[in-house]
Amino acid sequence: MAEFLGNSRRTAYCGTVREDRIGETLTVAGWCQRRRDLGQLIFIDLRDRTGIVQLAFDDSTDRAVFEKASSVRSEFVLVAEGVVRERSSKNPNIPTGNIEIFVTSLKIVGESETPPFEILDNTNVSEDLRLKYRYLDLRRPSLMNNIIFRHKVAKITRDYFDENGFIEIETPMLIKSTPEGARDYLVPSRIHKGSFYALPQSPQLYKQLCMVAGFDRYVQLARCFRDEDLRADRQPEFTQIDVEMSFVDVDDIQNMAEGYIKRLFKEALGVDIETPIPRYTYKEVMERFGSDKPDLRFGMELIDLSETVRGTQFPVFASALAEGGSVRCINAEGGAEKLTRKELDKLTEYAKGCGAKGLCWLKFGHDGVSGSFLKAVTPEEIEAIKQKAAAREGDVLLILADGNDANVLPTLGLLRLRVAEKLELERKGYKFLWVVEFPFFEFDKEAGEWVAMHHPFTSPLDECIEYLETDKGKVRAKAYDLVLNGIELSSGSIRITNPALQAKIFRLLGLTDEEAKKKFGYLLEAFRYGAPPHGGLAIGLDRLVMQMLGAGSLRDVVAYPKVQNASELMTESPAEVPQKALDDLGIAIKQ
Ligand code: AMO
Repeated sequence: MAEFLGNSRRTAYCGTVREDRIGETLTVAGWCQRRRDLGQLIFIDLRDRTGIVQLAFDDSTDRAVFEKASSVRSEFVLVAEGVVRERSSKNPNIPTGNIEIFVTSLKIVGESETPPFEILDNTNVSEDLRLKYRYLDLRRPSLMNNIIFRHKVAKITRDYFDENGFIEIETPMLIKSTPEGARDYLVPSRIHKGSFYALPQSPQLYKQLCMVAGFDRYVQLARCFRDEDLRADRQPEFTQIDVEMSFVDVDDIQNMAEGYIKRLFKEALGVDIETPIPRYTYKEVMERFGSDKPDLRFGMELIDLSETVRGTQFPVFASALAEGGSVRCINAEGGAEKLTRKELDKLTEYAKGCGAKGLCWLKFGHDGVSGSFLKAVTPEEIEAIKQKAAAREGDVLLILADGNDANVLPTLGLLRLRVAEKLELERKGYKFLWVVEFPFFEFDKEAGEWVAMHHPFTSPLDECIEYLETDKGKVRAKAYDLVLNGIELSSGSIRITNPALQAKIFRLLGLTDEEAKKKFGYLLEAFRYGAPPHGGLAIGLDRLVMQMLGAGSLRDVVAYPKVQNASELMTESPAEVPQKALDDLGIAIKQ
């Protein structure tokens, strides 16, 4: 970091000083982490973004300097000059622990009130308080290092795509709505009263238009905005590594993304990611893991018991099968002890909360078989289930039956995750997979209509085009997700470039030609002037960094995040605005 020192009064960063500088006179600058006053001796731990160095003052220190040192409090900002010397009592816990700086000149360049919390990595201070004073929170080395790591990721990202011929193009923030399935953040126009810009949910259509323009390979670290419910892995504003390529098919885009992931993990973490990353169809992951973003760090795959129990008298199973549904289970291997009766009741409630009618369980304990439906089935049926699930003594089977297969799979997928947590299954490393061939449409039960599962610019698989009008549920898309450890990192697709097909898809999604023209006329028009075949993807940068660092929430990798109710606690945004501002915009607030 030496090259940054020239312009400041500083000649070394605190955390970088080692024994090789003993005898040198250095100037360091930073914040007082802690002052220890031992009468004739004062020690100050001085912190900057690189770490901590100990400043020492003793009875041979100039009296004025010593006096100043005794007035220093936590978080005072200091510039100190002194000679590096070996410490008499070494601290093996920090990299600078063998040396200290014996101070000859000290300046207090900024005083601090007593901070609302101590700047420590292991803190039990409430997150809300930390977010209110985020600039203090960011002083905590672990959080600061996360943000510095994020910078490193962004840098490697730009280098990789630049070296592969991509051009970074900034697209506008004030745009016409692009549908990604969330609600738009709207910005009222003062000049065009009653009209609104939308903040981009993604730069989707602009990047496609960059392909029509002929840029061939586009990348952008793009800010995106979505007004949707927050979760640990969702922020209302976030960053995508947004990519689009011309004259490509699915494999080309996946290969480019894999090259990126490999390089990034190696360079930033020293971790080798094996490529090619395995590809699973949507159908396969749903049937095997009950999720389109499965966590492959552990097994516990779903087992189809439908054929095993066909013909049973047990009404729960029999009616599910009669209705054309299925009976499936997971085997919580070795879970007999941890999954007590109470835990199984909790899991049953959880399954019901996820939409299941109930949960059947079978426990193969050391003292025999127990279960929630033992009396309703024959011993032969139990044995058949045991065989099919390859259950052994100590295992617990959690079984779901439903007349609609589509209800069984995701609920069992959620139970799989819950049980892995309860059994504290080891989940280490980075398990990537691609999920391909997503359904094109999904049925939105609330709205009672078919919507695009990815977005309406996604190309259907060629062999599915014939079902577009006859059987929407059968149409699969040239869409792919990259999943890491149970989190969707990235989505992408090959796009439609045929204006007639695009217009048809809009119609199938319930947009009249008139509406489609009004909303996306510019895209349909652009396709009439020579659109190259193209496709792309967007990787969530925040989620990527969160996963790389093993952080529990996006808030740990975003400098100024928002909380659950979408507000930012430090600046107290969103905030009311003066009446005049509303008047200028022609807006009246309804109470
Ligand atoms: P999609 O909507 O799947 O695709 O988004 C791509 C990736 O962006 C990240 N992401 C988020 N991260 C944090 N907070 C959020 N609220 C949030 N929403 C999404 C995820 C996700 O996988 N235009 C398409 C991409 C394309 O087709 O090229 C798109 O935006 O990691």
